[in-house]
Amino acid sequence: MTDNATFKHEDVELQLPVVKASNGNDGYNISQLLSKTGNVTLDPGFVNTASCESTITFIDGNEGILRYRGYPIEQLAEKSTFLEVAHLLIHGELPTQDVLDTFKYDVSNRMMLDERMRELYRCFPRGAHPMQVLSAGLSALGSFNRRTLDVHDPEQVNEASLRLIGSMPTLAAYAYKSSVGEPFQYPQKNLSYVENYLRLSFGTPQEDYEIDPAVVNAFETLFILHADHEQNCSTSTVRMVGSSDATMYASMSAGVNALSGPLHGGANQAVLEMLVKLREEGVDMKTYVAQVKDKKSGVKLMGFGHRVYKNHDPRATIIKGHADKLLRASGKSNDLLDMALELEEVALNDEYFISRKLYPNVDFYTGLIYEAMGFPANYFTALFTLGRLPGWIAQWREDHADPTRKISRPRQIYVGETERDYVPMDKR
Ligand code: SDX
Repeated sequence: MTDNATFKHEDVELQLPVVKASNGNDGYNISQLLSKTGNVTLDPGFVNTASCESTITFIDGNEGILRYRGYPIEQLAEKSTFLEVAHLLIHGELPTQDVLDTFKYDVSNRMMLDERMRELYRCFPRGAHPMQVLSAGLSALGSFNRRTLDVHDPEQVNEASLRLIGSMPTLAAYAYKSSVGEPFQYPQKNLSYVENYLRLSFGTPQEDYEIDPAVVNAFETLFILHADHEQNCSTSTVRMVGSSDATMYASMSAGVNALSGPLHGGANQAVLEMLVKLREEGVDMKTYVAQVKDKKSGVKLMGFGHRVYKNHDPRATIIKGHADKLLRASGKSNDLLDMALELEEVALNDEYFISRKLYPNVDFYTGLIYEAMGFPANYFTALFTLGRLPGWIAQWREDHADPTRKISRPRQIYVGETERDYVPMDKR
């Protein structure tokens, strides 16, 4: 028996079917609203609007809960590996050992890029932002895999998924190598996905790259924590571009561009730049927080706040624990970590943040780890992309499998000029 909500306005009364959730918010299906009332809804930033029904990721912002396919992020971060989580997100179940071994083998066989793709990187200036390079690399990848472009052929969609996951570490590492003028390495079949990524990034032809298991474990966890996050800005972009039957490569490239913004994935870079600036200028945390609270300053506390989490971001909690351990192990000075911890302490005890339920999000501590690992700040969002790719692929595939799928085309409420006649130049 479908539950309905009643919408009434003037002489119109409409029954809106209630879409029941298994966890979290139910929804009112308004797909008949325009045809039955002649009017549309308005919801800037889609704060109150669900774009789809999904079975992939569940977030409870009030309880600080994040689950992939029902599994709590805390358990996956502690017990799983990034490729196992990638398989879980895309296929819906934790793989058996045989299935996982096959998946890892298939991905490993698709890590090497067409040799001509190296020339693409040489076209970019050294100072190009890695997200611009990554976006171009993903688009170009489709050109070098033209037999995997048919979005209606399940085999080609599977092949494109493997090719994208396999190529991403190489694409990302090449963006870094190109920016520092170092020679590109080749992926090695005897290394794991994360080991390969670290060696592609920091290895040189001059010596064998020594793999630090603690760093590998940290990146396995970091990539797991970034792997999906339901209908955020970049995932919604991937779905929207995919809704036009654009290729998977074009959709992922669009996702990179959406993620690059400092209000979204670019925040991890902005956090480190904020801390470094505060250190250089000798600004104390209380003074900075006062500046943030003054709307006229236009200053935000980067790495704080979230559209969904109105309690702690469970990812930030896990990363914070790793940051302390890794930074002390790396022997790097912890002044920026100490500053971040103090900034969090000051903010979380201030009414401005408490009343607005602003807590550290996933981006607040990640940059400190990435910097300690040797990555430059403008590269941090490329690392976010590497983690998020399997989630984008899972969400893109879910959208394509939806029997009610339509091209995304929101409406508007026109508030501009009503009809008027053209004015000749001599009458203006
Ligand atoms: C990610 O959506 C996802 O799931 C994203 C993500 C993912 O995994 O995909 O989790 C990754 O993008 C994390 C967020 C990274 N961005 C930042 O850290 C940038 C700083 N944060 C803000 O820009 C902001 O909090 C957003 C963009 C994250 C959320 O913006 P919302 O939901 O539109 O909230 P809002 O701007 O309406 O803020 C509500 C109030 C406002 O004050 P008032 O107008 O009520 O007085 O809170 C204030 C805001 O000014 N506010 C902040 C603030 N964030 C919100 N004030 C100071 N510093 C901040 N960081």
